[in-house]
Amino acid sequence: MTVDRRTFLKSAAVAGGALGLHALPAHAAPFTSEGVSSAAGSAPPSRAAAPLRILILGGTGFIGPEQVHYALARGHTVTLFNRGQTNSWLFPNVEKLQGDRNAAGGLDALKGRTWDVVIDNPTGKPQWIVDAAAVLKGNVGHFFFVSSTGVYANTERVSPNESSPLLELSPISGPQADAAGYGSRKARCEQLVEEAFPGKSTIVRPGLIVGPGDLSDRFTYWPWRIERGGEILAPGQYEDPVQWIDVRDLSQWMIRLAESRTTGIFNAVGPQAPIGIGGMLYGIKSVYSNDSRFTWVPQSFLTEQKIRSWAEMPVWTYAGASTYAYCTSKIDKALAAGLNFRPLSETVRDGMAWYHSRPADQQERLRAGLPRAREAEVLAAWRARRGR
Ligand SMILES: NC(=O)c1ccc[n+]([C@@H]2O[C@H](COP(=O)([O-])OP(=O)(O)OC[C@H]3O[C@@H](n4cnc5c(N)ncnc54)[C@H](OP(=O)(O)O)[C@@H]3O)[C@@H](O)[C@H]2O)c1
Repeated sequence: MTVDRRTFLKSAAVAGGALGLHALPAHAAPFTSEGVSSAAGSAPPSRAAAPLRILILGGTGFIGPEQVHYALARGHTVTLFNRGQTNSWLFPNVEKLQGDRNAAGGLDALKGRTWDVVIDNPTGKPQWIVDAAAVLKGNVGHFFFVSSTGVYANTERVSPNESSPLLELSPISGPQADAAGYGSRKARCEQLVEEAFPGKSTIVRPGLIVGPGDLSDRFTYWPWRIERGGEILAPGQYEDPVQWIDVRDLSQWMIRLAESRTTGIFNAVGPQAPIGIGGMLYGIKSVYSNDSRFTWVPQSFLTEQKIRSWAEMPVWTYAGASTYAYCTSKIDKALAAGLNFRPLSETVRDGMAWYHSRPADQQERLRAGLPRAREAEVLAAWRARRGR
């Protein structure tokens, strides 16, 4: 079910007040007729030195709208290409081209057009890159592909930089391509992008993307749980690695990379310096004034209880877990290319303002994390094990 952002925009002020928030996030501010977020409480970004014509393949889901807001505010011209199904009410004054990338001739609306920059957000199917390249090659100056740190191999052990080994590339099409894993398909997409746009491509590999608009609830689980107070099951050890990136930091940085014509491959995740799950949980707790307190339960006991990293205990990982690479990716290249990060507290406040605007059924049933009753069971079992 897609989130109705209209509802969010209307109710964000109410939710923000209830949480004692400071300024509403730019994301939550009312859109003008131009579809530009009228940055409440923060200065609008300055104009770019040279305006670009940017085509965004997608643009209306999670990361896309943040790219559009920022690109428009920087003075660029934006065209969106999608099926017109997701949040179609967004950006009434932005050019919209329609087509279905799964359909024959689905990209016809792009034929004969030229752009300075193309940003391909949603693609997880290699055939989509083949089709896009067939139409856009020679007509665009710079091609961005949103990949993932999920492309890396040996994820239990490595802290990957951009040159680390990748998973085996999936086939381009056919049943075996459809059956291949997400990371293998993304890796194949990357190879096809570099082949089609040599020297003109930027591949961004985000880790966990969080903040307003995140329907996965993986990061949200923690502020949601801390907001409810009381004894909270905290996983593993304080220093176990965690990484995430606020959707706004990612999206705005991509537009700045386009402006500077920066090409190459970049892991894109934060925070700037490692803080561990303990630092993250206490950082989130600092946003709330309540009786929440953490009981740290070792990984070995959680494994016995079938509590898994990134599933029942989202964001958290530990050495040896298949999710380890997703929380230990090296970001030196991205930092050198200008990736920066807002404070954790801002991500929590704005993400929870958005959460409180969601339909009631979504607020009750998060898509990730441990149900409260199960958390109580595991905590009781842990107390019993420790003999108290
Ligand atoms: N979430 C995470 O933590 C995470 C982590 C790492 C990487 N990533 C990657 O980040 C990207 C996130 O993308 P996003 O969804 O936020 O992008 P987005 O551009 O904001 O939204 C997805 C867009 O794709 C369009 N679309 C979907 N199916 C289509 C089709 N068949 N033909 C044409 N357009 C279609 C949708 O519009 P219509 O439905 O109207 O067509 C929508 O505009 C993905 O590549 C994901 O793999 C995510």
